[in-house]
Amino acid sequence: MRKRPASTIDPSKIQTAAFVIEEELLRHNLGVLKYVMDKTGVKMYQALKTWATWPLFPITREYLDGTEVSSLNEARLGYDEFNHEVHMYAPAYKDEEFADILKYCSTIIFNSFEQWKKFKPLVEQFVKDTGMKRECGLRINPEYLGKEESGGLWTPCAPGSRLGIRISEFKATLKENPKALDGISGFHFHIFWDKTFDELQDAVEVVEKNFGDYFAQVQWINFGGGQKISDDDYDVEGLVKLVNSFQKKHDVIVHMEPGAAIVKNAGALVASVLDVVYRDDVDYKIAILDMSFNAHTPDFLLSGELDMPVTGAKIIHDEKELKNYKNVYQLAGGTCVTGDKLGHFHSFAKPLKAGDKVIMEDGIQYNLVQCTMFNGVQHPSIVLWKGGKSEMIREFTYEDYRSRMG
Ligand SMILES: Cc1ncc(COP(=O)(O)O)c(C=O)c1O
Repeated sequence: MRKRPASTIDPSKIQTAAFVIEEELLRHNLGVLKYVMDKTGVKMYQALKTWATWPLFPITREYLDGTEVSSLNEARLGYDEFNHEVHMYAPAYKDEEFADILKYCSTIIFNSFEQWKKFKPLVEQFVKDTGMKRECGLRINPEYLGKEESGGLWTPCAPGSRLGIRISEFKATLKENPKALDGISGFHFHIFWDKTFDELQDAVEVVEKNFGDYFAQVQWINFGGGQKISDDDYDVEGLVKLVNSFQKKHDVIVHMEPGAAIVKNAGALVASVLDVVYRDDVDYKIAILDMSFNAHTPDFLLSGELDMPVTGAKIIHDEKELKNYKNVYQLAGGTCVTGDKLGHFHSFAKPLKAGDKVIMEDGIQYNLVQCTMFNGVQHPSIVLWKGGKSEMIREFTYEDYRSRMG
């Protein structure tokens, strides 16, 4: 497997604030995914909820089969800008959107037997009227929490989760109506966030144990996303082996919907220091940046526990330890919201001053898609870093802000 190239972003060539995607690193990640595809025949779909910068779809399309979407807007973007292999899953579908969903999506995955029963006649009618192929699937909930997780925000199988059909309900429905799976081509599960291969292996075992009896009735099983396949320490060969043996054993094709694995560590959020504020009641200084954590990195704040890696800086969590480090800063956003700051600290080699650039590594996944213009703060531009040069993909203006406000 090719080694991950080092980042080459030169912040002096970036007009901030900007989400900077590095083509070489993006292609590295995609190359790892393609290797798995070539060795197994697994189908891979780009999860648009993680990153949907469509002007770069011509790159991701070189490697992947299509898109995985969760809303009508994502479906349309996938259809218009990627290709017509659009796989949709949503916890529930809206009556008034379903005709368009049928138009844009080649595969529709339902979250419950009730939803499947409700929309099945519309799927059948669409296929009859157009002669086009549409596949339907069901999301199953294997009730597997992962090795360390006990449930919570990012655990789709936590007790009480609304996502996927649990085995008790699955069996009860089939007992009542043995034909409930007629017209279903596959099952889908998504149980992870940023997980290692070991956990996928364990999860697949649980899925096989609970739902394996029904695999003979379908053609594909979708393993979802959440696997850090492109990380340097991911057991890629283990994944190849697992997928190959699973496909052979059950006579199905495995689908995967990587999101983070495509763009993880393949880009940064680059910002400039606008001012440095000194306070005599704390052991750190505050660097105010030309971006906002609230508006531009909501995932970091929502998760609470996520670290923000910054090039050339060491992360410190414990405020009591700050005295032992030099040049310690709290990075803060430029909005006037008190909480627009990181909960951990960064120690830099040199003191920060206005105009210095800060590279927040791995800044793309789940940030760019969730960005807002809250407080009227400027939306970071989107830049491609290629061959030592920056190429502007999109700049945002006052009109973008205005058009969202009314
Ligand atoms: C159904 C589904 N598929 C795929 C993904 C992508 O996951 P990741 O970006 O962790 O690979 C998600 C993320 O939440 C998801 O909910």
